[in-house]
Amino acid sequence: VCGIIGIVSHKEQRASIVASCLRLLEYRGYDSVGIAALDVGKVEVMKTVGGVEDLLKQVDVDSISSSVLVGHTRWATHGMPTFSNAHPHTDCSSKIAVVHNGTITNFDVLKEELTSLGHRFKSETDTEVIPHMMEEWIKKGLTSWEAFKRTVQALNGSYAILAVVSGERRIYFARKDNPLTIGLGKGSNYIASDAEAFVRFTRRVVRLMDGELGYIEADEVRIFDFTGKEIAVGERVMEIGWSPEESGIIGYEHYMLKEIQESPRAVRDTLAGIRFDQVSEAASLIRNSERVLVVGSGTSYHAGLLFGHLLEKEGYDVRTLIASEATTLRPREGDVLISISQSGETLDVLNAVKNHFKKYNIKSISLTNRIESALNFVSDIRLHTRAGPEVGVAATKTFTSQLAALLYLKSLIVGEPTDYLEGAPAAVSNSLSQQGYAKAIGEELCKKSDMFYLGRGMGVPLAMEGALKIKEVAYIHAEAYPAGESKHGPIALISDGFPVFFVNDGERTALLINNLKEMKARRAKTYSVSVNSRIGADEEIYFEGDSSLAPFYISPFLQMVAYFAAVCKGANPDRPRNLAKTVTVE
Ligand code: F6R
Repeated sequence: VCGIIGIVSHKEQRASIVASCLRLLEYRGYDSVGIAALDVGKVEVMKTVGGVEDLLKQVDVDSISSSVLVGHTRWATHGMPTFSNAHPHTDCSSKIAVVHNGTITNFDVLKEELTSLGHRFKSETDTEVIPHMMEEWIKKGLTSWEAFKRTVQALNGSYAILAVVSGERRIYFARKDNPLTIGLGKGSNYIASDAEAFVRFTRRVVRLMDGELGYIEADEVRIFDFTGKEIAVGERVMEIGWSPEESGIIGYEHYMLKEIQESPRAVRDTLAGIRFDQVSEAASLIRNSERVLVVGSGTSYHAGLLFGHLLEKEGYDVRTLIASEATTLRPREGDVLISISQSGETLDVLNAVKNHFKKYNIKSISLTNRIESALNFVSDIRLHTRAGPEVGVAATKTFTSQLAALLYLKSLIVGEPTDYLEGAPAAVSNSLSQQGYAKAIGEELCKKSDMFYLGRGMGVPLAMEGALKIKEVAYIHAEAYPAGESKHGPIALISDGFPVFFVNDGERTALLINNLKEMKARRAKTYSVSVNSRIGADEEIYFEGDSSLAPFYISPFLQMVAYFAAVCKGANPDRPRNLAKTVTVE
């Protein structure tokens, strides 16, 4: 996955500025981190296993300054998270440094060729072939720009690459299937995997498309497509809306809790910011379709399942698909696609939409939290949540915001009034007011190693999301099932004190009570988050309100339970092990 950043300025900048940008990219991985600063005659590389904090302990980044800096935070794919595999990677003479996000699929062939030409490699990464290949072309007399272009031509796979060459005040870049955005500053230009890394310095951005490469200098940006045609930068410039303060953590121990608590605002802004023309167009497309295909991964898939469930109840034919498995479904005429992705950069989702469904010419709608993201550019209708930047790896306020946007869309589709959604932010606040109870439950669950989440109807995707959250941040093995299914196998695991968390959306409560009794009869410890009717769990948090708003009572509570279970375990919920927020590998 990995996060990359490059800064080129007229004035020398301290390397600590790159470290601070990398901190904001750590959601993309934190196995290792590294910075390269161009010095006279060579590149200075500082790197370490671990995150930015680890680097700061080892290197005095303030003592190094340069007008050209690049940085990288890694989520390991090729090669273990070791010092030598950490980026930036250099050529033999340490005059070229490269950072890369993606996977070079033909690196082994290239490496063999380069080795036969005398190049010696220090890492097991696919990336290291890039500086060596550039070096080889420069040796053959090409300029470094020509050498970069030739190198990129030889690469297969996916990449966002930044390359710097000592003696030059410029950063070369290339992008294919991994995000890269340029930031236009005054006397400095920036380039990063995500605009969040530099939004403190500028909100004027240029989004790069797949199959583009070029370079940035302190006051110049040149972009070309792979055929060599130059792209007019001016037409691409856009202004991003959110402000840098939104990602600060002041007053909170973790981003996760801060972001859960921002949910009422995120839901309110999402509803207030809905572009009626676009959402109406999306609604009419769906209303006139014969079948609705919904795709997403992880939490966004769960939001899709909830949306699909609500449409099915209204008689719509819906298939909700996990993005990485969606490509086996052959769409037919009359299908409409809705893809859901917080980041808009998840490769599984992009692949499904761009490389599969688009081929069949079906109309597509996307819902993302990032207007500059790739998914927007491959969709016919673009809907947005306005949750603001989410730094914690686990999706929280973005999920609740997705639900708000999807419930609004559903209401337009079926022709019901949308006013009830005005109560959604208050429902979320009501849920958040029960933080103390969520903490108590989280602290109890933190001592357990396995658990179930059970629900019915809308409660099924909410149970799945509850289980995903506690699994990823608190490392508790949690499985979610439709409650009725529990007696067909899962119940075999129930023994004294086994935790079972019921998600009760207030519908079909009598059946849920039966399932609860089955669990209690086997001495399970039962919990419930209930809306509008109690089911009699050992620990039951009860909310009274509009049952159409049940997800807004249930989800934040389950997120808080997961958060407090993680904290009680001593885990850092903002950085679950092995995970990255935006997964740009397949
Ligand atoms: C879970 C989580 C992931 C993401 C998934 C999709 O808390 O954050 O499961 O939901 O990787 O990401 P997006 O929505 O960016 O496509």
